[in-house]
Amino acid sequence: MILSYLSYSWQYLNGGNVLIGKYRLNGRLILAPMAGVTDQPFRKLCRRMGAALVVGEMVSANPKLRNTRKTQLRMNHDGECEPIVVQIAGGDAASLAEAAKFNVDCGAQIIDINMGCPAKKVCNKAAGSALLRDERLVDEIVNAVVNAVDVPVTLKIRLGWDRDFINANRIAKIAENAGIQALAVHGRTRCEFYEGFATYDEIADIKSRISIPVIANGDIDSAQKAKFVLDYTGADALMIGRAAQGRPWIFNEINQFLQNGAVSDDMPRRAVSKILISHMRELYSFYGEFLGLRIARKHVAWYCKTQADHLQFRREFNVIDNCDYQLQMVEDYLKS
Ligand SMILES: Cc1cc2nc3c(=O)[nH]c(=O)nc-3n(C[C@H](O)[C@H](O)[C@H](O)COP(=O)(O)O)c2cc1C
Repeated sequence: MILSYLSYSWQYLNGGNVLIGKYRLNGRLILAPMAGVTDQPFRKLCRRMGAALVVGEMVSANPKLRNTRKTQLRMNHDGECEPIVVQIAGGDAASLAEAAKFNVDCGAQIIDINMGCPAKKVCNKAAGSALLRDERLVDEIVNAVVNAVDVPVTLKIRLGWDRDFINANRIAKIAENAGIQALAVHGRTRCEFYEGFATYDEIADIKSRISIPVIANGDIDSAQKAKFVLDYTGADALMIGRAAQGRPWIFNEINQFLQNGAVSDDMPRRAVSKILISHMRELYSFYGEFLGLRIARKHVAWYCKTQADHLQFRREFNVIDNCDYQLQMVEDYLKS
């Protein structure tokens, strides 16, 4: 009895130990790349709170953008847990292969290719999920990037362009044949952006067709949903994005549920305050006071959105332009 319980928890937590190249993950939960959110302070926080792997904000394959302050900050992985994953975005094989090499030289230990982002800014240049419409180009890109570097290369996709053009299973085969080491699939099409609900049948289908690790993504926002998606798709791991905004402890909650079925109580306000204040301090130290306190505003809004009177609090908070006052206000608001 005890043995079967132990093997149950081991199976859910480690899922047969997801292996990405030589990197064996210590869990099944991955923080999704989110531009403007998964910066270094947030990645470190999510790792501390139970994410087995974290993916940073995409960096452009365009070398002209490399020296901008934004890209430099995105490329900063000082003090992070290994393996360091860098996601690259671009529209052609040669520049993505070059970008992969460049980022490996700068310390990337896993390269992730972005074919999942629906943003117009990315897609107008036929990058991100727009690439999914051109399977020959996808083939060229994944082969070029895999051959350019000695580290594992992973791919993040959507189901296809729209519901009339779902080709994720063909893309998955292309990826596997090229030597991609893990595939993350967001259960929406490009044209759905973030509307409606993610669907998981296609992810289950992909899982049954390829033998590299499959990572299910889309709308996983609770421990119960996480277990449902794992069971339904048979995926090796889960990728969580928006549900971690303002709730980085979701990784610990899901890990605990997968391990022993225990449902966590709501995080007490004092505990939220402690996590948030430490997050804000990290933001100030990483970005400097001017930018740090502006970036803190959106995180504070996410952390507080389920608390009483949060709209009023947010209005008052957003006009403060001093780090000490910001900290004091959060402390007072979340007191008891
Ligand atoms: C603000 C924001 C930024 C995002 N940026 C990226 C990105 O840089 N690269 C990428 O592949 N996906 C990006 N995504 C998509 C997420 O990685 C993820 O696939 C999507 O949010 C669905 O997962 P979720 O329902 O858990 O949020 C972004 C999503 C959001 C909300």
